[in-house]
Amino acid sequence: MHPGNRNLVTIDDLPSGEIEALFSLADEMADSINAYAGLCQGKIMASLFFEPSTRTRLSFEAAMLRLGGHVISAVDIGASSLAKGESIADMAKVVGGYADVVVIRHPWEGAARVVADYAGVPVINAGDGGHEHPTQTLCDLYTIRKERQTLKGLRIALWGDLKHGRTVHSLIYALARFGATILFYPGPGLELPEHVIRRLSTEYRGELKRSEDLDQGAKRKFVPIDAVYVTPSSPHQLAMMPDISIQVELKAGVDALYVTRLQKERQAPAAEQRESGKDYPVVDRRLLRGKEFEKTLVMHPLPRVDELACEVDSDPRSMYFKQAAYGVPVRMALLSFLLGAREIPTQEAGDSFVKKTSYPVYKRDSGVRCPNKNCVSNQETEVKYIKPQFKTVSLDPVILRCIYCDHEVSPRYVASSDWHQGKRENKKYHSAGSHWARKIKPENLIVFASEKEAQARQFKPSRYVRR
Ligand code: NCD
Repeated sequence: MHPGNRNLVTIDDLPSGEIEALFSLADEMADSINAYAGLCQGKIMASLFFEPSTRTRLSFEAAMLRLGGHVISAVDIGASSLAKGESIADMAKVVGGYADVVVIRHPWEGAARVVADYAGVPVINAGDGGHEHPTQTLCDLYTIRKERQTLKGLRIALWGDLKHGRTVHSLIYALARFGATILFYPGPGLELPEHVIRRLSTEYRGELKRSEDLDQGAKRKFVPIDAVYVTPSSPHQLAMMPDISIQVELKAGVDALYVTRLQKERQAPAAEQRESGKDYPVVDRRLLRGKEFEKTLVMHPLPRVDELACEVDSDPRSMYFKQAAYGVPVRMALLSFLLGAREIPTQEAGDSFVKKTSYPVYKRDSGVRCPNKNCVSNQETEVKYIKPQFKTVSLDPVILRCIYCDHEVSPRYVASSDWHQGKRENKKYHSAGSHWARKIKPENLIVFASEKEAQARQFKPSRYVRR
């Protein structure tokens, strides 16, 4: 199949079958890394890194050079026209005219989606703020598969800054699709964001057990766990979910411990930083003596700071430098696929353990904005052309998820577009929590952040407006 304009903005842009096929290609490429110098000859990759990077940028550039292609780059926002107030869309259109593929890292969440919307060539997200980092996930999964020969039904523990860590977010969604059990060990105040948890339970239909619900036996045996997420290990087992015993899961040990650093740059006030930095959990030799870690792969996307002791480096369980090294063959496979230089067999959703839910998109301009200040849709240079768009995740209660950054908003007032039949006096709005909200068809939904917004659009309060 020719991929046309396929992008990798979120890890969900690649079905599980394609991920496995990319890994087989990466295996071939790793075995004879110099044999592919003709594959992308004459192609140009634009490497746009507007946040610090060592591994991701250099492994992408090395991958493109190994494929016989060329690299053009911009690595400093201050040295590009973005500093003059140029929009991301304009930059994307221009760079898309110079290159055959664009790799972008940007501090705003959702920036890579905007580049993909405007570049006209395949776009790869190399990290957009605290949102996602799908190619790091490919390196992580590739490492696990190399060591464990499978990606299915594994028990993976995620450690550290689960709130701001984009690598963790992409990894979670992929693991859920491969039927994993995920254990969460967050630093203080660094638990998974609510929208990630909701996405796990609504889209991947797994079960999340908070630590207070775990039985005492399980809790005593292990270092403090915040929560455990269990995906059904095959679709037909969904009905049997309540029977899965967390304790049995935990006793079987952890396949991989994924350590992350405190993402200081994404924490707003200095006080918050001090608070989370104080008791940030550390992985060292002593911790790894625990029985549950006997056969555990110790992973880290790197760079590490103090959360992973150097004494672990000589332990055969440490995987992080291998993870970084795999970046080249994995990105070679991805680039040659997206550039249409290599075909890979496509297997569709049937190969996934969990069939994802798709939601209707809310596009009306009714004044509701994404609540995330760091979302691309809220930036001064971008509001001129980006219209907020949301997935309608639920009508009871009303929950909209931003299509750029995944943050959620629950507007307070709703109306339906088929009730007023063009007659002004029938244009009524209701409280989002009233029984009317549940009756509105997603395609007719209109939401308002405030009564003022509703009234500015000529809607009048119904009897079902609670103040
Ligand atoms: C990560 C990133 O940039 O999100 N690094 C990487 O790409 N390997 C992790 C981090 O910076 O902590």
